[in-house]
Amino acid sequence: MLTIDDLGDLHGKRVLVRCDLNVPLEGTVITDEGRIRASLPTIERLRAAGARVVVIAHLGRPKGAPDPAFSLAPVATRLGELLGAPVAFATDTVGPHAQATVAGLAPGGVAVLENVRFNPAETSKDDAERAQLADTLAGMADAFVSDGFGAVHRKHASVYDVAARLPHAAGGLVLAEVAVLRRLTVDPARPFAVVLGGAKVSDKLGVIANLLGKADRILVGGGMVFTFLAATGHQVGRSLLEADRVETVRGYLAEADRRGVDIVLPTDVVVTDSVRPGATHHVVATDAIPAEAIGVDIGPASAAAFAEQIRSARTVFWNGPMGVFEIPEFAEGTRAVAQALTEVDGLTVVGGGDSAAAVRRLGFSEGAFGHISTGGGASLEYLEGATLPGLSVLED
Ligand code: 3PG
Repeated sequence: MLTIDDLGDLHGKRVLVRCDLNVPLEGTVITDEGRIRASLPTIERLRAAGARVVVIAHLGRPKGAPDPAFSLAPVATRLGELLGAPVAFATDTVGPHAQATVAGLAPGGVAVLENVRFNPAETSKDDAERAQLADTLAGMADAFVSDGFGAVHRKHASVYDVAARLPHAAGGLVLAEVAVLRRLTVDPARPFAVVLGGAKVSDKLGVIANLLGKADRILVGGGMVFTFLAATGHQVGRSLLEADRVETVRGYLAEADRRGVDIVLPTDVVVTDSVRPGATHHVVATDAIPAEAIGVDIGPASAAAFAEQIRSARTVFWNGPMGVFEIPEFAEGTRAVAQALTEVDGLTVVGGGDSAAAVRRLGFSEGAFGHISTGGGASLEYLEGATLPGLSVLED
């Protein structure tokens, strides 16, 4: 992949940078700014080179039309504060205000364009529709830098199509993310442990299938674990269950057995009758989950066992919280996993928006982990062995 150095002298050039600024918001308050911070080095580097920096990004999943709830305006403000420099904000993406904002940029100046997903063409499955938006974007710049790792698995106009229309390069964030994920897939130090959590098992089936051929142990927690428990014959009460995936999971368990991969499931879980702060909760064995109970975290015995499996590994990839960590009473399993990762003698990678947000929210220092990925779906698809459009287009 070409790098920013390969783009030559950028002084005065308009450089369109695709960032992933898809941060969680409560109203206009950013609750985790990890992705903004991760975008700073490339933007700073382009500014230092005297480029006119035009940042393009998405926020959330608006329905292809402007929606104030998904505006990037608060993100642009925060970006300016973190850069310590003015950041112009265009209230449209490719309309008259964007054109005027880009035209008004001085060398070293930065502008953020409004959420590219306000344009239905961005995510369109129709190549011609995306091409139109990509042509317009390309007309606003002299070069393209892809730095939004979290979106490289999307064949979207601002990720994929625009790269083919301009001199392009991978930014430092994309290069760093790919280098680390590659270390997980090519000859990882063993034992290689994978810790998977989060709500939906259906999001993780591809990665499980691929990692069965690579990992030594796969630890499962979070909402998705109840489909695993159901596949081993347990009752799961009112916990999250994807009944249509039970058979697939059963197949994976059999495959893991054949290959000698340990699938480690919790032996106890925290249950409640209502998922809210302050709700009554207690610990039960996974083979005795009451019919009315909702599982919200792995239990203390499981947390200790998971921690031991993690600490004794030499490579660990973790995606997805072990429970409803946003509620302090249900955060202990996630905390134990995070803590164990900080004690590993080897490479640890935290992948995914939720797990990355969890480690920050639980007060862990980012430096305690080998790498915190900005890509949730992107890092999972990379580990599935899928071709990521936003990366393959940079190879040409
Ligand atoms: C993410 O949050 O994983 C990225 O920003 C991609 O967002 P998307 O899943 O809405 O495409």
